[in-house]
Amino acid sequence: MHLSNVCLLGGTGFVGSRLTGALHDAGKRVRVLTRRRERHRALLVLPRAEVVECDIHNAEALAAQFQGMDAVVNLVGILNESGPRGTGFRHVHVELTSKVVQASLDCGVRRLLHMSALHADAASGRSLYLRTKGEAENLAHTFAGERLAVTSFRPSVIFGPGDGLFNRFAALLKLAPIMPLACPDARFAPVYVGDVVAVMRDALENEATVGRHLDLCGPDVFTLREIVEYTARTLGKRRLIVGLPDWLGRLQAAVLEHVPGKPFTRDNYDSLQTDSVCGDTPPQPTRVASIVPGYLTQRSRDALYQSWRRAANR
Ligand SMILES: NC(=O)c1ccc[n+]([C@@H]2O[C@H](COP(=O)([O-])OP(=O)(O)OC[C@H]3O[C@@H](n4cnc5c(N)ncnc54)[C@H](OP(=O)(O)O)[C@@H]3O)[C@@H](O)[C@H]2O)c1
Repeated sequence: MHLSNVCLLGGTGFVGSRLTGALHDAGKRVRVLTRRRERHRALLVLPRAEVVECDIHNAEALAAQFQGMDAVVNLVGILNESGPRGTGFRHVHVELTSKVVQASLDCGVRRLLHMSALHADAASGRSLYLRTKGEAENLAHTFAGERLAVTSFRPSVIFGPGDGLFNRFAALLKLAPIMPLACPDARFAPVYVGDVVAVMRDALENEATVGRHLDLCGPDVFTLREIVEYTARTLGKRRLIVGLPDWLGRLQAAVLEHVPGKPFTRDNYDSLQTDSVCGDTPPQPTRVASIVPGYLTQRSRDALYQSWRRAANR
């Protein structure tokens, strides 16, 4: 399978921007669809990349962008929805996937890489996030039929510079000496963004991955408490981490989901009821300790320089 032209949805995000670069480096022409082109001008330095502003929820606009494409990558996903309960997740995960598959079929696209999540399951997922991700994944594979070759990717939580995991806890740990933590025993196998991108890039033209649902985990398993403790140690901060009992964790989520930016919601709480670890699937190679201190301490070094600058009035 040789595929030259690839269109990415969500190609501006944490995973997507790296995958865009990796596919470009592999010699592909890439078209990245975004809601705000101005925010992602950095991608324009890639000579074979175009960044196009597009309402991807509009089926006709989507089909116009898929003309001439050999492959489509759908990385769009949300952790928190807006609107009445469930409708936001359905809109972004299920309805968008249906439009992506239909437009791909209409435009003669041959290959679809679909980003899902570990333990996404339409029937038994513990949260709306996991159920709608599961529904979208099923839909991508069943609706595609013979003409569109689909592979889906099911990562545990993903780490790397700019992630929403270690960076988020690092920011919170800087705010207060005590951290109340819901679901402290929830387990994760954080997988490095570079490994996720390499698997997706290599799968694109690999016929053996067609029809497969690939679980992606890293080699280390941490509880949530261990992730926070590790982050505090790496930053050199002494902090008291207080694991909340279930009822208080749920109450914390019920309160924080009304805070702007929704730092933690009841649906996030429900997702954490399932350990995000792989079964027998061999892990991806990159260890947390080989990457995370590099970007967490870089940030604290930057903060240190800023404080010296302020002290010197410069
Ligand atoms: N990060 C993780 O730990 C993790 C773990 C498991 C699975 N995943 C899945 O991996 C995928 C990528 O994750 P990520 O961390 O790279 O996400 P991200 O940084 O938030 O990027 C998601 C991208 O999707 C687009 N997007 C978001 N909401 C949208 C909406 N309502 N309509 C249209 N476009 C929208 C955004 O593009 P524009 O703003 O440019 O339009 C954004 O660049 C997601 O499907 C996520 O569920 C991530």
